This record gives sequence, structure tokens and C-alpha cells, in this order.
Amino acid sequence: MNKPLYLSIMEETKDMHEKIDRGKLPAHIAIIMDGNGRWAQQRGEHRVFGHQNGVDSVRETAEAAAELGIRYLTLYAFSTENWNRPREEINALMHLLVITINNEIKTLNDNNIRLRAMGNLHCLDKKVKEELNEALEKTSHNTRMDLVLALSYSGRWEIVEAAKSIAIQVKEEKLSVDKINEKLFSSYMNLPDIPDPELLIRTSGEFRISNFLMWQTAYTELYFTQKLWPDFRKNDLYEAIVDFQQRERRFGKTSEQIINCKG
Ligand code: IPE
Ligand code: IPE
Ligand code: MG
Repeated sequence: MNKPLYLSIMEETKDMHEKIDRGKLPAHIAIIMDGNGRWAQQRGEHRVFGHQNGVDSVRETAEAAAELGIRYLTLYAFSTENWNRPREEINALMHLLVITINNEIKTLNDNNIRLRAMGNLHCLDKKVKEELNEALEKTSHNTRMDLVLALSYSGRWEIVEAAKSIAIQVKEEKLSVDKINEKLFSSYMNLPDIPDPELLIRTSGEFRISNFLMWQTAYTELYFTQKLWPDFRKNDLYEAIVDFQQRERRFGKTSEQIINCKG
């Protein structure tokens, strides 16, 4: 007799979960949550329906990451370029953001998760800014995991902002040009205390970075899945982590050097 589908999914999830090496977890995972619109359209629904269902995936993924002991999870929620979408989709997304942030504060606190944000936050609607600031403030004491939302964010924008700040420091003679190096540049990024992500996941079968974390992903392992974001579940995160753990991160060295170093 065939097993019920839910039992198979539970077993599959358990298997994948058990394959994860707890000693080799990435400290920081970043995700480009893509495919909401297509998910909705496949069901004959408006794109916004996809965004609404994507919230469940955010919840599941954040829960799975926290349970595993991932220290930082960064989610690309709205790019600078997304401001070019139809006004009604932007409004719906902003509205969804307000409701979700508001609803999740208690869960975040119950789970000791700190909400953080990066991006050109001044551009956000007043109501979104207010809700966001409240949630940032109310969860600021939490220490188990930082859940970072990239909002009105683009990697090039962040790099240009850093360059501008550095230029001002030089102009005001507070910084000399020969002090500018990669370490200093990194310290001018939006959240400089957070280490670069070891793993970047993109859903929906697109193979591009779309202006996400351009500086921080210089040596990040990239993982692409066909799954559309509203279908992304804990097991998909486990699969990505297991895949990541099988890779050899060489950082320019030879494989032999890496193996000898381990031994
Ligand atoms: C990702 O899903 C969510 C945002 C960019 C806000 P999309 O809305 O890009 O969905 P597709 O890629 O059109 O399917
Ligand atoms: C990237 O998805 C931005 C977010 C997930 C927030 P897009 O759907 O906007 O990316 P492109 O335009 O297809 O590259
Ligand atoms: Mg998209």
C-alpha cells in the first residue's frame, strides 16, 4: 500500500535534517525569495496572493534556521528596482509588510529572534517605517538569531553610500586615503557587525543576484532551486545546507592545500 503523502514528506524532512552536520553550519544564510508572482499566476490568482502565501515560507524558514542554530538569516524582501513595479502591487506589498511585522513581534520575542533591516529605509512609506522601527526596537535585546530584512535595498546603492561616507571622511581630513582597504570599506556597509553570508539561496529557477549583497557575496556559495518561494519549506532549507556542506570552499587555494590544512 502507498504511504500517505504527508508521511512521506515527514520522513523526507527527517532524513534531510539528519544529514546536516551541526559542526559545519553556515553562520549566515541569505535568501532571494523569488517566484511569488508566478506561484499565484499558476493558480489563476493575482500576484499579491503569491506575496501573501510567501509569508508562511518566511515563517517556516526563520523557524528552521533558528532551530538549527543559524546565527544570521538575511531575506531579500524588496529591492530598489522593485519600486518600478505597478503602484498597486507596491502598495499591497507595503501593506503586507506592515501587517506581518506587527503580527510577528510576539513570536520573534518568544523565540529570542532580533529583527534587523538594511536598505534605503527612508524611502519606505511612513506607516511601514513606524511599524518597522517599533519591531526593531522591541526585539533589539534578542540574541539567538538576527533576522535581517533587506528592504528598498540594492547592493550597488549600499556600495555607493559607503563610498560617499568614506569620501566625506577624507574630505574632512578625518581619514587618510592610504587607510582605505577592504576591512575599512566593509565597516561602512549597512550592518557591519554581520559576517558575510557563506550561503546564498535563490528560489524560482532564476540564476542571478539581482543586485543583492554585491559586496558581501564575493566568496559566498550560491544555491539555486526551482521551487517558487511560497512552496519553500523547512526541508528545502535543509537540502540547501546539506548541498553547501558537501562543497569545498577553496578561496583561491588548491584542493590539496585545503585537504592538507584539515589533516
Ligand atoms: C518575489 O517574487 C517577491 C518580490 C520581489 C517582492 P516576485 O514578485 O518577483 O515573483 P515573480 O518572480 O514575478 O514570480
Ligand atoms: C529580486 O527579485 C528581489 C527580491 C526577491 C526582493 P526580482 O523578481 O525583483 O528580481 P528580477 O527583477 O527578476 O531580477
Ligand atoms: Mg521575481
